[in-house]
Amino acid sequence: MPKPQHCGTGVPPVLRLMSRMPKPHLHGQDAWATFLICTGILWLVAFRAVKVRPIEWQEGVVCILDQTQLPEWVVVEEFTDWRGVAEAIRAMKVRGAPAIGITAAYGIALAAHQFEGEEMSQFRAFIGEVFQEFARTRPTAVNLFWAIERMQKVLNTCTTVREARERLLQEAHQILQEDYEADVKLAQYGALLLPPQARVMTLCNTGALATGGIGTALGIIRVAWQQGRLAKAYVCETRPRLQGLRLTTWELLQEGIPFQLITDNMAGWLMAQGKVEAVVVGADRIAVNGDTANKIGTYSLAVLAHYHRIPFYVAAPTSSIDLGTPEGKAIPVEHRDATEVTHIGGLRLAPQGTPVLNPAFDITPAELITAIITEHGVAQPPYTTSLRELCSKAP
Ligand code: MRU
Repeated sequence: MPKPQHCGTGVPPVLRLMSRMPKPHLHGQDAWATFLICTGILWLVAFRAVKVRPIEWQEGVVCILDQTQLPEWVVVEEFTDWRGVAEAIRAMKVRGAPAIGITAAYGIALAAHQFEGEEMSQFRAFIGEVFQEFARTRPTAVNLFWAIERMQKVLNTCTTVREARERLLQEAHQILQEDYEADVKLAQYGALLLPPQARVMTLCNTGALATGGIGTALGIIRVAWQQGRLAKAYVCETRPRLQGLRLTTWELLQEGIPFQLITDNMAGWLMAQGKVEAVVVGADRIAVNGDTANKIGTYSLAVLAHYHRIPFYVAAPTSSIDLGTPEGKAIPVEHRDATEVTHIGGLRLAPQGTPVLNPAFDITPAELITAIITEHGVAQPPYTTSLRELCSKAP
């Protein structure tokens, strides 16, 4: 099937898709053109990268920038049914721990808007099921459960359906706003830790696409660049889903930040050459003792950094710290479909029938982490005390 053409080599225009519309079955460019017209897709002339918004609420519609189609296509899908929002998280159309939490909050607000009727006990039962469904989408990112808990607390204090609808939406806006502010603060703290002319290695995508703001680890890289501290970033491609190759490169190119893309297995070689001053990564869940769950491959980078005496930083908002989990062993690790490993870009490269292991995250022990950077400051070992202290500053 021939792919639709881009307009030049720059950033492709934004497509807006209504989620209720059927997926197109295309058999050529004519069919694609017909689909565009028939489904009322809106082409926007330019896409301002600085304003990358993975998730937005627009008058009763949840708009999600479909990250599975980046960088080839910039498609914003519009959801009017909360179940579609849950599915978008599961399918990783939206991903990155903070963005997952924000999306779930808006999905819950959408469900509240969809509920017909004014009977509060029925509403509570319905929203309870919605909470459960979102909780089942991705098990590792604790921001998801943190956001659901915040929505639950708001619901507990509401007396009418009308009040609950309004306040659940307000809470989702608040979660987004707080994450935006947290990113700015932690990026400032993190940039200060880097030496002048730093060459910084990073993994996965922890940028604006993954949060409500400028990003966590990538936010630090962004601010370090603005402050003249960054020489370049090394972006690990991040198999199997290639978030580094597809998403981080996309963000950095638009920001004009110097970087080089590397395959994951080049990291050790670069470190051995003395070409890396720091490694900065994000987190999906940080246990009380500092053990950190993050994208698969983080642990390998931490071991390499330790061997080469390179500082290894974890950057995350305090919403990624799980005070209910004492150590990394207790963090649930998501395992995903085998096709993520056997296929690249929809093409099967492994022989049919290949047995596969596909954990989406690994756990980096606290002893390999130089510091954990949050919006309330930088935690140093021993993390059991420093993380609790930082969390106590959260509202
Ligand atoms: O599977 P993903 O793409 O959701 O994994 C994302 C990561 O591992 C990120 O490093 C983490 O969520 C932090 S994003 C600011």
